[in-house]
Order: sequence, then structure tokens, then C-alpha cells
Amino acid sequence: MQYGIDTSALSYHNEKPLSDVSIIAGPSSTGLASNIAKDLKSNLVEVDLRIFSDGESKIKMPKTSKNCVLVQSTYPPVDRHLMQALMIAKKCVDYGAKEICAVIPYLAYARQDRAFLDGEVVTIDLVAKLLREAGVTTMVTVDIHSTMALSYFNQIKAHNISSIPLLASYVKTNVKLNKPFVVSPDEGGAKRAAEFAKLLNADMIALKKFRDRNTGQVRVEEKIDVDVSGRDTVIIDDMISSGGSIVKAAELLKKNRADKVYAVCAHALMLDDASSKITSAGVNEIISTNSIPNEFATVDLSPAVSSFIKTLF
Ligand code: R5P
Repeated sequence: MQYGIDTSALSYHNEKPLSDVSIIAGPSSTGLASNIAKDLKSNLVEVDLRIFSDGESKIKMPKTSKNCVLVQSTYPPVDRHLMQALMIAKKCVDYGAKEICAVIPYLAYARQDRAFLDGEVVTIDLVAKLLREAGVTTMVTVDIHSTMALSYFNQIKAHNISSIPLLASYVKTNVKLNKPFVVSPDEGGAKRAAEFAKLLNADMIALKKFRDRNTGQVRVEEKIDVDVSGRDTVIIDDMISSGGSIVKAAELLKKNRADKVYAVCAHALMLDDASSKITSAGVNEIISTNSIPNEFATVDLSPAVSSFIKTLF
């Protein structure tokens, strides 16, 4: 199990092809899988997908080698994407694979890592068991919500890759920041924000966020001890889901006369009207990795994932 920042993974230069590894492009991550296969000079396996009218997936894929890497992010529709990952793993087993590494950049259910209220299910525990049962030997994810979630993968190898170096490098190169200031929308993200701020040579704070466990509504402490007026601020989070956390943080920064506000994250789920709510709160740009391929996915994860895969095989 690994949880940390790998600053060496900003680019990938492969001298020796990983020719005995099949990179399988799961239906949710075809672009990322193709980039990884190019980096590693490995065989890219395309999956033929059919969705039946009742919602079931049916996949068909050509023969794979003994070492398989399946790339399938489990963003919405989460259950469908998760099921497809399990189906691909099963097919690799049928083809005689010995090592099956599941690259799941956005790992669905990672937030259900404990029973917050009586009667709740720790679903990430079930996800870990399902992956193992399907034949997965290693699970690789990106910026998992908590180390607690990773601890349920105790019967297979599990690794967390940080996207912070890639995100910071992108922001440094592409965004002109004046007197940059980094903000974590909550205290849980303080370590992440500190790493990001260090790479940008900026100072940072972590806000105090409170979430109503029943309604999901968030509020942040209405006071910051730093003068952000006229400064460009970057809010960094592991994911943007409903957008509520970013909206509250952006509103607070704007109220304190911050100049530009950027929202940077690993996983831009952008559910419902998150994007318009965030823009209305004064955010100038949303930047995310391609763990979820959408209009905000400007940072390619393949250098970090490829370097990690190289260490596995
Ligand atoms: C929560 O602790 C996470 O780090 C994110 O801040 C949260 O999941 C974002 O969700 P939303 O966009 O719905 O506020």
C-alpha cells in the first residue's frame, strides 16, 4: 500500500518496451489507456461494448497476454463502469492471465469508507472484495479520498498515485498567477494543498468545512486569517462532485476580495449544474486530470500511471 507524492512522475520516457503486457482500454478510459500503451510501447487491447436495452453491458475482447493492465475509471454511471471492470478482469482470467492490474483512476465508493450513520454500508470494502474475486491482483488509483478506503484492499496490492505534481506542473506552465495563494476547502485536504502550494512556491490555508451528513449541504467557517485581497487563489480538492465545497470556498475568497479564483482537482465529476454554480461563484477556470474525460480534463495522468506500471512488470 502506498500513499504519497511522486514528484518524479511528471513525464514518462520509456526506453525498453513493455511488450509482454496487454493494456486493455476499458470503455470509460479509452483515451488514457491509449496514452499509457503509447508510453509503455505495449499492446493496446480494445474492448467491444454493447449496452442492452435493460442496461446490461456485454463486452467482447481479443486474447490478452499473461500480464494485463485494465484501465477503467468508475465515474458515473458508477455501477456500470465498475461492472465492466469486473467483466474485463474475468475475461483476462479466462485467457490465462497471471497478473491483472486494474487502473481505476477515479475509484467509485471510496467515500463510503466507514458507516457515518447507523445502518450504512462500508461499500468500498465490498468493491475491494469484488475486484479480488474477479481476479484483480493489483489495484492502482489516483488521489483516493482517504487512506482508510485503501486499507480495505488488504487481499490484493493497492497503490495510490498522486496527481499533485502533474496538476502543479500544469498550473505553473499554463496559468499566470499573481501572488498565488492556495486554499483547501477542508482540513482533510490540508496535506494535499500543502504539497501543491510548495510546488507553486505559494502559501496556503485549509478552511474549516462542515457537511450535514443527511442533506449533504456544506458550509465553511466564515473567517480567514490571511489577507487575500488582489491575490490569485487556487482552490485544490481531490474531487468536485456537486460543486458545493468549491462554491463555498470561492464565495469566501471573493468576499475577501481575492482577484482570480481557480478550482483544481484530480476528479471533476461535475454532477448536475456544478459547473454553472462554480462559475457563478466567481471561479475563472476549472482544471482537472483526465481520470474523468470531460471538458475540464486538461491534465493527462498517463506519465504518472505509466511510470508506476513500469515498476510492476
Ligand atoms: C470531501 O471531503 C472531498 O474532499 C471533496 O471536498 C468533496 O467530495 C467535494 O464534493 P462536493 O463538490 O459535492 O462539495
